[in-house]
Amino acid sequence: MSKQNWNPDSWRDFPINQQPDWPQDQLRKTMDKVQQMPPLVFAGEIEELKKNLAACERGERFLLQGGDCAEDFSRCNAVPIRETLKVILQMAVVMTYAANKPVVKVGRIAGQYAKPRSKPFEIIDGIELPSYRGDCVNGPEPTLDARTPNPERLLQAYFHSTATLNLLRAYVHGGYADLHKVHVWNKEFLANSPQGMRYEKLASKIDDALSFMEACGLRELPQLKEVEFFISHEALILDYERALTRQDSLSGRWYDCSAHMVWIGDRTRQPDGAHVEFFRGINNPVGLKVGPTMKEDELIEMIDTLNPNNESGRLTLISRFGSDKVRQHLPNLVKRVKQEGRNVLWSCDPMHGNTFTATTGYKTRDFDKIATEIREFFHIHRENDSIPGGIHFELTGENVTEVKGGAQKIDDHHLQERYLTNCDPRMNCQQSLEMAFQIAEMLQA
Ligand code: PEP
Ligand code: CO
Repeated sequence: MSKQNWNPDSWRDFPINQQPDWPQDQLRKTMDKVQQMPPLVFAGEIEELKKNLAACERGERFLLQGGDCAEDFSRCNAVPIRETLKVILQMAVVMTYAANKPVVKVGRIAGQYAKPRSKPFEIIDGIELPSYRGDCVNGPEPTLDARTPNPERLLQAYFHSTATLNLLRAYVHGGYADLHKVHVWNKEFLANSPQGMRYEKLASKIDDALSFMEACGLRELPQLKEVEFFISHEALILDYERALTRQDSLSGRWYDCSAHMVWIGDRTRQPDGAHVEFFRGINNPVGLKVGPTMKEDELIEMIDTLNPNNESGRLTLISRFGSDKVRQHLPNLVKRVKQEGRNVLWSCDPMHGNTFTATTGYKTRDFDKIATEIREFFHIHRENDSIPGGIHFELTGENVTEVKGGAQKIDDHHLQERYLTNCDPRMNCQQSLEMAFQIAEMLQA
């Protein structure tokens, strides 16, 4: 297929992976409705994130992207949303303080409803059922009814995204993210943990610094009162993304207004596939997952397709190899990108290459392996005079038991206690904060 003329529907002429088997008529009607709906975000905000990511690329800022593996409609409530925002704010404070550089905060939130699956079907209690593909497609319950893809869920996803984003905007601009609240973010069950206490000390130092600045007359600095918080998700279901793709009236440029940033997953990044075709024409900052099967030449080709003008802040490469494979794969890719002078932001997803099944049958990850992949990521970039510019986590602010290890020493038998995820295991709030302290040290090194 020729890659000459892009339009918001040109992806339809390319082979596509990971799409549900929808009833087409109903899909079309529902997408017509979504297309009538207001955008979730607008071009000015999207460009603002792009500027922030360009700064990460230059090493002047650091990207922190995180949230659920898969958001769950039934958990679209104030508490989980607030807790996730809170832990991201806390992590950002820890990292900013250590590295002396601003942290760009991007949630995997307000739209992370679609999941690629390795198998289209699974067998549960002897019955073959379509795999769960995320709440915007089907339900996780093991019945044929729940698992049948239902386009109405895409409209529901739109409304759940708007409700989530509305609350996030209220928190972020309504005073909750004010740096004077650093202590408030440290809630009880965290405050008594080693990380919570470590955080508390840091928060007191920030308080002192704020008092000092105020004594000097620097009272109303907007930077202290509000933060910027952006939203992102894997743009997997292209019918939905297309319905929210709009032409900016000022610039004439197209933006996917379902989120500020969208990324292409490791399973849908075929150079001649529909996802790459769709992504190349939208002007959002885009992410590309880079896993063990990515070849050097292929990566350069993808970079040139997705970012033909070599624009800074446009393309984030999110490496996800696994702690035991990152040494084998990442150095050559980093060298080649550097040698070819391509402007990209390198970020590390230490989650998806480190997933395994515990002896108790739960899908999990090990805290130390996650930390090891991040450490290797930092080393490899520094050895090659490249910038380790960001991090990408699956995490939640809630006190779940899904990832093993960390100071709480969660083991195989603890996993069942509060294992809430519908998809991949997330670090809980203590593990997330503990990880932030480790990254802070890596950033300082
Ligand atoms: C994800 O980020 O949830 C995901 C599925 O990752 P990947 O595409 O890297 O496997
Ligand atoms: Co995941």
